[in-house]
Amino acid sequence: MKNQVKIKKIIEPFKSQITVASDKSLSIRSILLSSIAVGRSRIFNLLESEDVKNSLEVIKKIGVNFVIKKKFIEVYGVGINGFKIKKNTILDAGNSGTLARCILGLCSGSNNKIKLVGDKSLSNRDFSRVIKPLRLFGVNVFSKKGRLPVELFGSNLIRPIQYIENKGSAQIKTCIILSAINTPGVTKIKALRSRNHTELMLKSLNYPIKVKKTKKYDLIHVQGLNQFKAFDYKIPGDISSASFFIVLTLLSNNSEITIKNININPSRIGIITILNRMNAQIKIINKKNYKGEQIGDIKVKSKVKFQSINCETSLNSSAIDEFLLIFLVACKSNGISTFKNLEELNKKESPRLNLALKFMKMIGIKVTKNKNDIKIFGNPKIILKKNYHIKNFFKDHRIFMMSVVAALTFGGKGWTIEDSDSINTSFPNFLKILRKLGAKIK
Ligand code: S3P
Repeated sequence: MKNQVKIKKIIEPFKSQITVASDKSLSIRSILLSSIAVGRSRIFNLLESEDVKNSLEVIKKIGVNFVIKKKFIEVYGVGINGFKIKKNTILDAGNSGTLARCILGLCSGSNNKIKLVGDKSLSNRDFSRVIKPLRLFGVNVFSKKGRLPVELFGSNLIRPIQYIENKGSAQIKTCIILSAINTPGVTKIKALRSRNHTELMLKSLNYPIKVKKTKKYDLIHVQGLNQFKAFDYKIPGDISSASFFIVLTLLSNNSEITIKNININPSRIGIITILNRMNAQIKIINKKNYKGEQIGDIKVKSKVKFQSINCETSLNSSAIDEFLLIFLVACKSNGISTFKNLEELNKKESPRLNLALKFMKMIGIKVTKNKNDIKIFGNPKIILKKNYHIKNFFKDHRIFMMSVVAALTFGGKGWTIEDSDSINTSFPNFLKILRKLGAKIK
């Protein structure tokens, strides 16, 4: 059957240096910000994936031209308030929550109606989280039960807002920042810390945005309507994609990997902090700064023993896309690991927390759940003997890739994992790189 993979044996020891897919968050942000810059921007090393393709399609529909060249993509930015939005424009965000939430902020000044749609997974996700602040700006936004389709048309009465973002969501924060850019005056956001790529990118463009850090929150002031010039941006590798290889290496026998040129923004490397506390000894070398972002190479060696963790909730946001992988290491650890307040994990491309529990039970690990807190009873001797079939409800790319890593490290007589196409949203080369490392995947 097409669109599934079969894995019969664990991966042989490997020693290798790899690069992984470019950062998805930065790819989408660079497209959106270049669309409102003035003039021609050049984005190098843009992620080639479905979410990014959809981002380009979306800016094209609102009147922004781009040209794909061999080494970079040129985006012809139209400036703030420069979009040409036709009547009844339909924008399709596909599978991408980031694109969907952010485009609503970017288009908050639209004077024609926009209808935002997405695929089955995205249509199940919550949009009330961005509808609420957008309405405070004075934007007209409608949806049934906070789900897609969302209809938006701007207003002449748009005004700056003060908003407390308490979910630790960078998508909500970015939606508000982009809407603030369309709005006269200063918008003030108190945001529970989350990835800060939008703020850093705007700062590197000398946009008037100020950020003051407190222990848990970032206090952000955005001055609206400040035109900014087009820019060049070179996208580094994605820590979320690198993480599959970090955990593959840790859980394999006698293996080593160096993953080159990865974005190691502190708001993204919760997985490294957490796994190192579990005895992983992951190292970051060749650190450098690029336009406010930190970049480095990640070095990992296999480990035999892992220690359980009582994971602080303050790390949740910086590891939010990596918990499936962290759970795999917890399965192999000595002792009981606890993770708390993981409500947001059930609001991703699929209900990932619930599916992760189902998965761990399936491979014989004891797990308990109390509201959004879980306990994983590790088994350092875990070796699997059965056949496993992963259905991958909602075609979640991260569920697919995590299952492949589990099959290649914990074993099992045979694994069939459905929806291999799902990797196209974030990491189309995932299987190719694994095969290069020696994985036998049919
Ligand atoms: C993202 C933010 C996170 C993350 C997603 C990408 C972004 O979502 O899970 O994969 O690029 O802003 P939330 O903002 O909903 O936490």
